[in-house]
Amino acid sequence: SQLSDVTLTSYCKTKESRELIQRALMDNDFMKHLEHGQIVTIMDCMYPTSVAQGSCVIQEGDDGSTVYVLEEGMVQVTKQGKKLCTIGPEKVFGELAILYNCTRTASVTALTDIKLWAIDRQIFQTIMMQTGLIKHSQY
Ligand code: CMP
Repeated sequence: SQLSDVTLTSYCKTKESRELIQRALMDNDFMKHLEHGQIVTIMDCMYPTSVAQGSCVIQEGDDGSTVYVLEEGMVQVTKQGKKLCTIGPEKVFGELAILYNCTRTASVTALTDIKLWAIDRQIFQTIMMQTGLIKHSQY
C-alpha cells in the first residue's frame, strides 16, 4: 500500500528541542492520548523550518498538509479576520485539518520571526497507522 512505502526520516535535534517537542505534543488535547512510542517517533520525524515576522503560516480554508510545533516566537490565530488568540512556544498548531481531514479552520500568522518544527501529513498518518497495526497484532 502507499502507507507502507513511506520512509520515516529522523532529523537531528538538541536535547532541549527534543524535550520541548515532546512536552508540546503531550500538552495537546488530542496528541496526549497517543502512546509514548508514537510521541517519540513524531518528534524524531519533525524537521526544522522558520517563518519571518508578518508571514502567513496557515491560511484558513486551505487543504492542510503539515502539523507544527512552535519552538520560538509568537503566532496569531484568526478566523474570518477576527483574532482568536496568540500562541507562544511549546505549542502544537495546524493539527485540526490533519486529524479531522477538514480544511484549515483558521489562519495562523507570525507575530515575530518564528522557529518551528514540522511534520507532513503522510508521515504523521503513517506513524498513527503503524502503531495501530502493531497494537492490533498483539491481540
Ligand atoms: P488547523 O485547522 O489545521 O489550522 C489552523 C490552526 O489554528 C488549527 O489547526 C489549530 O491548531 C489552530 N486553531 C484553530 N482554532 C483555534 C482556537 N480557537 N484557539 C487556538 N488555536 C486554534
